[in-house]
Order: sequence, then C-alpha cells, then structure tokens
Amino acid sequence: MTETPPGTGLVSLVSAGPGDPELLTLKAARRLAEAEVVLFDDLASGPVLDHANPDAELIAVGKRAGRPSARQEAVNRLILDHARSGRRVVRLKSGDAGIFGRLEEELVALAQAGIPFEIVPGVTSASAAAAAAGMPLTRRLTARRLQFVTGADVTGQLPQDVNWAALADPQATTAVFMGQRSFPALVAGLRAHGLPGDTPALFAEAVGHPGQRLEPTTIEALARRLEGVVPDQPALILYGPLALAEAGKQA
Ligand SMILES: C[S@@+](CC[C@H](N)C(=O)[O-])C[C@H]1O[C@@H](n2cnc3c(N)ncnc32)[C@H](O)[C@@H]1O
Repeated sequence: MTETPPGTGLVSLVSAGPGDPELLTLKAARRLAEAEVVLFDDLASGPVLDHANPDAELIAVGKRAGRPSARQEAVNRLILDHARSGRRVVRLKSGDAGIFGRLEEELVALAQAGIPFEIVPGVTSASAAAAAAGMPLTRRLTARRLQFVTGADVTGQLPQDVNWAALADPQATTAVFMGQRSFPALVAGLRAHGLPGDTPALFAEAVGHPGQRLEPTTIEALARRLEGVVPDQPALILYGPLALAEAGKQA
C-alpha cells in the first residue's frame, strides 16, 4: 500500500443522482458543502451544484456522449493535482457514480498515487426513471431479474459481444443506458432472439430535470421512432414485463 503524501486532500467520488437535488443523499450534500474543488460531469450539473460550498472552485469536466469532452486522462490528472494541493476534492458523477461512469479509471489513478478517497453511492437514473413513472423495476413472478446494460461501446455503436439470450429474456427488466442511437439495432437483435415486438418499453428522458418526459411504448414502436434521431437529452430506456399501466400519470 502506498503511503499518503503529507498535505494530500481527501477525494470524494460523489453520486449526484439524476438531476433533482432532492435525490442527492445527505452525505453527498454534505460533501458538496465541505468541498473546496468540485469537478463535475455535464450530467451532474444544474441545481445539484447549488449545494456546493459557495467558495468552492467548480470545474466542468463535461462528459457527454457524442459531444466534445475532457479526455479521461486529463480528468484523472486534474483530480490528482487538486488533491495534491491539499484541497478537499469532490468528483461529482451523474446518477450512481459506480454505474457506467468510468469510476474505475479514477479509482486506479487515485490508488496508484496513494491519495485517500471514498465513494458516496447514490440514486441511479434507472431507479429514478421507474419511480417517476410510478412503477417498480422488479415484479413478483414476471420480472425476476434486473439488468443494467450499455447501448454504446467506445465507438458509440451497440457492443458486438452482447449476451443476446440475457437481453431477450422475457422475465427480465432491462435498463439501457446510452442506448438511444443504437436502440433500433438492439431491437432487431432482440426480435431475432425471440422477444416479441410488443414487449413494453419506457423511454425516460431528462429524468429529474425540468424537461422530464416519460413515454410508455413498446420496443418495436420505440425502435421505429428512434431511427435516425440525433438525441439532445439524456434518456434511459427500460423494457421487459413493465407495470406500465400508470406510467406518466403520476403527479
Ligand atoms: C455515462 S451514463 C451515467 C449513468 C449514471 N451513472 C446513472 O447511474 O444514472 C449516462 C447515461 O445515463 C442515463 N442518464 C443519466 N442521467 C439521466 C437522466 N437524468 N435522465 C435519463 N437518463 C439519464 C442516460 O442513458 C445517459 O446516456
């Protein structure tokens, strides 16, 4: 184990939740209030940053699919440099920091540099989307498995090595992150592996933000609608034996 260099600040890798500041955990809010530097992603910005110490330096390291963003190595370097200057650093990541958030690269960089860190877990956009739609993610008897998958590999395309049997499991709820562009290709594969086109789906856009939009649909209809669409808002897609009846009707 590497020894912590003297004067090195603690780095808190903090989950921002989906966007609604009320979905920050108490611990996340406290870390933000105590921070001297906050390095935040594009999706972890907006009103959640109002909880940051007013004297903290706020640095956007904006990562967003399909848009210019800081390279991961540059983000790692910034985290290390600020921690070495002895400041309390918050690295703020959208949703739950441990889900499709490149957390590992940052942990490895911190561990190799001998810098103390902690992870503050939070509300993933998958739970927030289901809650906003007024439905559970699992269902007794019909949805006994829940899987979180990415719809994009490093090139932005549907990963080539997906587990089709798992994705086409009619008894699973699947949450597709970063999957808007590749959803038509995903659905073609799902259909080829036996999942019916009328399988319920929920398109949940900008969850926890003022422009939140929930669209209860089916995988086939959604694939048709997303064909050729260039997304400009984050969206999560849920599909499977969803309890969609009340979706979108909640206050
Ligand atoms: C890099 S991943 C980060 C996921 C995040 N760690 C989480 O737990 O929600 C970004 C993707 O998460 C989903 N996402 C994140 N925030 C969202 C939100 N507020 N509304 C809908 N989808 C969101 C979208 O699929 C987006 O492309």
